[in-house]
Amino acid sequence: MALKEHIQELLKQVPGLQAANAEELEALRIKYLSKKGEITALFNEFRDVPNDQKRELGQLLNQLRQETEGRINCLREQFEEKKAETDRLDLTRTPDPIELGTRHPLSLVREEIEDIFSRIGFTIAQGPEVEDDKHVYGMLNFAPEHPARDMQDTFFIEKEIGVQKPTDVLLRSHTSSVQTRVMTSQKPPIRVLCPGRVYRNEAISARAHCFFHQVEGLYIDKNVSFADLREALLYFSKEMFGADTKIRLRPSYFPFTEPSAEMDISCNICGGTGCSFCKGTGWVEILGCGMVDPNVLEACGIDSKEYSGYAFGMGVERITNLKYRVKDLRLFSENDVRFLKQFESC
Ligand code: PHE
Repeated sequence: MALKEHIQELLKQVPGLQAANAEELEALRIKYLSKKGEITALFNEFRDVPNDQKRELGQLLNQLRQETEGRINCLREQFEEKKAETDRLDLTRTPDPIELGTRHPLSLVREEIEDIFSRIGFTIAQGPEVEDDKHVYGMLNFAPEHPARDMQDTFFIEKEIGVQKPTDVLLRSHTSSVQTRVMTSQKPPIRVLCPGRVYRNEAISARAHCFFHQVEGLYIDKNVSFADLREALLYFSKEMFGADTKIRLRPSYFPFTEPSAEMDISCNICGGTGCSFCKGTGWVEILGCGMVDPNVLEACGIDSKEYSGYAFGMGVERITNLKYRVKDLRLFSENDVRFLKQFESC
């Protein structure tokens, strides 16, 4: 190839010269610019060029050398920049602290309740949130038109969207439905705790929500008495709210227990002397309870002449409010980290 074409060919290649690392870059320099390099060889050839072409070819050749040097220097700078960047990384620096999440107060309290009852032999039972009428009401001694069904303000699930027909598929309004499931599938003695989410058709406010959490308990055996129920609940209250806690049972009504009661504890905020929390009474209500109605036992296939039992049910939000004084129920489901972070050390 004539010298001029050879120079022009190389000139075209200069902008495309690449090197992936420092070794390749050095190889490029050797290939073109070293003593035995291609460009050096062209300079040697240049000596034999006739004088009348020397000026033009000399300029071209110098251009080739400058551009090649320029390209190689440019590639070198890129490497050096990258290297400086890696040098700047201080791999021994302690990393930014990882923010740990916090346990939800309702989970903390639910687990505490489970823990307390598990120490006196209760095991955990769970059941579905989408239930049928039979397990939530029917087997629990609610008559077909029982006003308690209304009282609970149940969410019924329409089988066909938009068609409002009476249906027996519903969101459970209490976890007593888990108790019916346990009673129909296990033989006494039964001693279970049923924690879970329940749904009631209520407008959301600081004091009410359309879903909340319950822990219900059920104990069935021979000769279970109301005194056993009272002892278990007193033990629970003292473990949960402190050894000085007192309880009182007031007569009440539930379709599935007879007799039924509501239980108050001495106000853990004022210690029973009366404050705005307990409305000056010194007592706060925390749960419903009673002896399982024989009709319920029979409906679940348990001989009510041989066995008796007690049941109780409490709202986890209520217990949490008492423990942590959360005034607005909505805080429990809003997931505001400013609220949740306060339970970091719990
Ligand atoms: N199931 C009742 C409720 O949701 C609570 C309860 C349970 C009452 C067991 C008595 C016995 O309100």
